Order: sequence, then structure tokens, then C-alpha cells
Amino acid sequence: MNISNNTVLITGGSSGIGLALAEELLQHNNTVIICARNQKTLVHAQQKNPNLHTITCDVSDERSVSNMVDNLLKEHPALNVLINNAGMMHLHDVANNSLALEHQKNEILTNIFGVISLCDKLLPHLIKQENSAIVNVTSGLAYMPFMAAPVYTATKAAIHSYSLSIRAALKNTSVFVFEVLPPMVETEMSHGMDMPGMKKMLPVNLAKYTVKKMSKGTLEIKPGASSMMITMYRWFPWMINKMMDSMAPKLLANTTHSA
Ligand SMILES: NC(=O)c1ccc[n+]([C@@H]2O[C@H](COP(=O)([O-])OP(=O)(O)OC[C@H]3O[C@@H](n4cnc5c(N)ncnc54)[C@H](OP(=O)(O)O)[C@@H]3O)[C@@H](O)[C@H]2O)c1
Repeated sequence: MNISNNTVLITGGSSGIGLALAEELLQHNNTVIICARNQKTLVHAQQKNPNLHTITCDVSDERSVSNMVDNLLKEHPALNVLINNAGMMHLHDVANNSLALEHQKNEILTNIFGVISLCDKLLPHLIKQENSAIVNVTSGLAYMPFMAAPVYTATKAAIHSYSLSIRAALKNTSVFVFEVLPPMVETEMSHGMDMPGMKKMLPVNLAKYTVKKMSKGTLEIKPGASSMMITMYRWFPWMINKMMDSMAPKLLANTTHSA
């Protein structure tokens, strides 16, 4: 896909992976619009990158998504790339019922419903563009269980499956469906989650790798350790499960959520 001269919406673009993707795409001469819930972090991102456009939106709320899409299509009718990056993760000790159901619901609404509602509302427009794309940011965890974050992991597996299905459904249209499956990346989300022997990838490196792979037409993008972890899981699931299970207790011991 041509990665210049596009008009791109990045959900959750005010920090971490989303902001790094925004900055990388700005460098490739694209118009980039980022959305998130917190106005302050959006303003901060824009001060750092004066060419960025910002809009507030809570992707877990259908009305908020509808309002954003209506405004976007008026102000940026050339919009042709949707990057579904906004996401949240709660660590959760199921055996001890450590996370309120409301938090689990919010995770599902953000990580699954947010993606589906944006695709639903923007696809009629994207299909009319000559060259367009949906990019879903899932996780290497989409392929394997992780007991410390069971709802998060399930939401990423769901969007992995959704990406495969919509890619097939859209194969005779102008819409490419990409999926990015990051490994552990140094962001607010992974703050405090240090796993022995696993170095976190820098967001800037993930963004550069992703955009390069998109330019080559790689539809399933597995940056850094994700590629190796997913391949290893296919052949030696017991080994990866043992490794992931051994990391969980330490992570769960540091969680602050209460049921
Ligand atoms: N970091 C990792 O190790 C890692 C690994 C694999 C996959 N991922 C995935 O990569 C994506 C980005 O993660 P990150 O690490 O960059 O996280 P992050 O630094 O915590 O950033 C998350 C972004 O999403 C926004 N956001 C959260 N909930 C939202 C909502 N309901 N509506 C709109 N925006 C919302 C946040 O802004 P507001 O709070 O202002 O809304 C923020 O801009 C996520 O989908 C995550 O699951 C991350």
C-alpha cells in the first residue's frame, strides 16, 4: 500500500503506540487525525506535533463514535485509513475474583466494540475510496492464553478473528485489512510489567516496522518478539504456556484493582 498522501484516523493516538504511529505517518506526508478521551493528552500530542489534528472520542461509547465519524467525514472527506489502536488492559486474578465486572465490561467495550463500531460506521466511506485500509492493533497475545489478563487476551483473540473474517469479506474491495500484533512495548499500558528475559520494544521502532511492512503489503504484522513467540507457540505451546504462567504471579501481585 502507498503509505504517503493518506488521511489517517488513529484511535488512542495521544500516547504510546498510537502516538508513535501518528508521528511516523506524519513523516511520510500523511494527514493524521488522532482521537482519545483525555483532551489534555491530545493537546500535549498536538503541541509536540503541530501538524496533528485531534478529536475527543470514547470508542467504547457508540454515540461518541457516531459524533466523531460525522465530524470527521465533514472535515476530512479524504479519510482513507482507519487505525484501531485504542485499547486498555486490566490485570486480573480470576481465582481471587480480583477485578470488578464493570472494568471487565469496559475492557470488552473498548477493545472489541470500539473496533467493530468504527469499522461499521467508516466502512461505507472507506469502500468508496480508491486506496484504503483498516489497521487493527491486537497483540501477540491474540494467539495464546495469558492467565494474568484473561479478558484482555480474549479481546485481542476476538479482534484477530474479526480481522481475518473482514479481510476475506473485503477482498474484492479497495480496503486492505492489516493486523499489527505487538510484543511488549514500552508504554503507559505496560508500565511496571517487567518480565525477566523480555526486553520491551520502543514505540518508535514498532511504528517504523509497522509502516514499512504496510508499504510492502504484509497484512499480518508481527514486530519484534511477537513473530518468534507466535511461531514457538504453534510448535511448543507447553513451553510458552510455562513461561507465561511463571510471569503471571509477579504481575498479579502488583495489581491495584479491587473487585
Ligand atoms: N504496550 C504493550 O506492551 C502492548 C502490547 C501489545 C498490544 N498493545 C496494544 O496496543 C494498543 C496501544 O497500546 P499502548 O501500549 O500504546 O497503550 P497506552 O500508552 O495506554 O495508550 C492507549 C491509548 O488509547 C487511548 N484510549 C484508551 N481507551 C480509550 C477509549 N475508550 N476511547 C478512546 N481512546 C482510548 C488512550 O487515551 P485516553 O486514555 O485519553 O482515552 C491512549 O491514547 C492497544 O490496543 C494495546 O492493547 C500494547
